[in-house]
Amino acid sequence: MLLITSVLIFILSYCEANGNVIRPDQPSVVLTEGSSINLSCTFDGSAYSLHWYRQMPGSRPEFLLLIVKSTKTKVEASPPHPHMSISLHDNRVDLEISSAAVSDSALYYCALEPTVTGNTKTL
Ligand SMILES: *[C@@H]1O[C@H](CO)[C@@H](O)[C@H](O)[C@H]1NC(C)=O
Repeated sequence: MLLITSVLIFILSYCEANGNVIRPDQPSVVLTEGSSINLSCTFDGSAYSLHWYRQMPGSRPEFLLLIVKSTKTKVEASPPHPHMSISLHDNRVDLEISSAAVSDSALYYCALEPTVTGNTKTL
């Protein structure tokens, strides 16, 4: 008997302000256990940093990784996820999952933190 175990990934995006857009390049992926993948989101507008989260069924969203656009500084979750890495390519942010496990099946979110453009004043 041949048993192929699948890893199911759904991708959503989250953006905190008007004028900034971030969207997944593909809404969902199915991969076989042990394979690797890049989840990609493309963004427009002025981003300060790009984030990846994931949510397991019945749990709160969990922070995975972020990258600051200007400095390329990366921040990991604690404890970190050693089989995940984040990278930035122009207006695309990738989350690479290497040798995916069935337990990586989840809803993944890419998020954009906009740049702050001065103080907001009420007229
Ligand atoms: C993900 O993207 C990086 C950088 O573009 C590349 O080096 C890597 O091979 C890609 N991984 C997969 C699984 O496609």
